[in-house]
Amino acid sequence: MVEKHERAVMRVMAGETLERPPIWMMRQAGRYLPEYKATRKQAGGFLDLCYNPELAIEVTLQPIRRFGFDAAILFSDILVIPDALGMDVRFEEGRGPILKPVDLAHIDRLTPEGTLEHLAPVLETVKGLRSQLPSETTLLGFCGAPWTVATYMIAGHGTPDQGPARQFSLNHPEAFAKMMDVLVEASAAYLVAQLKAGADAVQIFDSWASVLDEAQFQLWCVEPVKAVIAKVRAEVPDAKIIGFPKGVGAFYADYAAQTGIDMLGLDWTIPFSFAKELQKKTPVQGNLDPNRLIAGGSALDEGVDAILENLSDGPLVFNLGHGITPLTEIAHVEQMIARVRG
Ligand code: CP3
Repeated sequence: MVEKHERAVMRVMAGETLERPPIWMMRQAGRYLPEYKATRKQAGGFLDLCYNPELAIEVTLQPIRRFGFDAAILFSDILVIPDALGMDVRFEEGRGPILKPVDLAHIDRLTPEGTLEHLAPVLETVKGLRSQLPSETTLLGFCGAPWTVATYMIAGHGTPDQGPARQFSLNHPEAFAKMMDVLVEASAAYLVAQLKAGADAVQIFDSWASVLDEAQFQLWCVEPVKAVIAKVRAEVPDAKIIGFPKGVGAFYADYAAQTGIDMLGLDWTIPFSFAKELQKKTPVQGNLDPNRLIAGGSALDEGVDAILENLSDGPLVFNLGHGITPLTEIAHVEQMIARVRG
């Protein structure tokens, strides 16, 4: 039995600098893999796949079998939380997620009760994964950050700049705060349950933190994530947590200093000089532009080399700066892994 601290990603999170950084990819299970598409077809709808432990385990393991990544990420979605809160969440081919937008009356009725019962199949997936994964592979659970989940609950779909949620949070701050409190409660309970079911660490995805001004960033990104982490650590004191507030530029420093995360997920738009400063205080994960992975060739090699040259003298988990897209060729993923592993 390999102890937790022998898992490379966990060692980096504890502050170690490894000879070669461990590697995994955000969205590593997905439509760029033929085996994913086959299992997805078998499942029916996307949420049916998320709530089918046998098939969710299978798609989580597919990229581990094919590429031997150092971490597996639970197959699920950030929008299972609004689904568990009783919102009607659907995923339509080519359109992404569609929800019935919340209104003030709905927010009044929102409660985190029943979340874990609804998500029991996902927790079963976590349990099954830990027993099926190679012992050296880190198992990551995750949830969406309250702000990012809220943007989909307000707009009812993806938008280019989350205008609807920004408007709503400014026009109805009290109702919005109530909704965020429910999301904090539900997300914390969900992460605790994932850790107790066998996840080694969890990642909090704040994909839309970048649209907030300084005051709103503090209020709706930093504070709720800090509250989630405090609640998780009240139940699981040694919980290891990765925070990924995508695209927040200079705000990364405040986020790392205030939230209590163990590792900071970086996107590709920040200067390495700044990333190195951040890395002196917090292990980092990232940050290859997924477009370099689509391009392949020297564009990919140069992107990988720049990350290794700048960040591999400190605690680093190699990753993309956002999820892999369906357009990516498998050969390019292999090229990236070979170069990182040397
Ligand atoms: O990383 C993994 O392999 C684990 C699974 C995972 C998925 N979504 C599966 C998925 C994770 C960690 C997520 C996170 C997620 N989901 C985020 C945060 C990260 C990010 O990408 O910004 C967000 C914002 C969502 C919401 C979401 N889910 C959107 C906007 C979409 C549509 C866009 C798309 O890629 O289709 C999804 C669908 C989704 N989630 C798919 C997968 C594999 C594709 C759906 C399908 O297979 O039909």
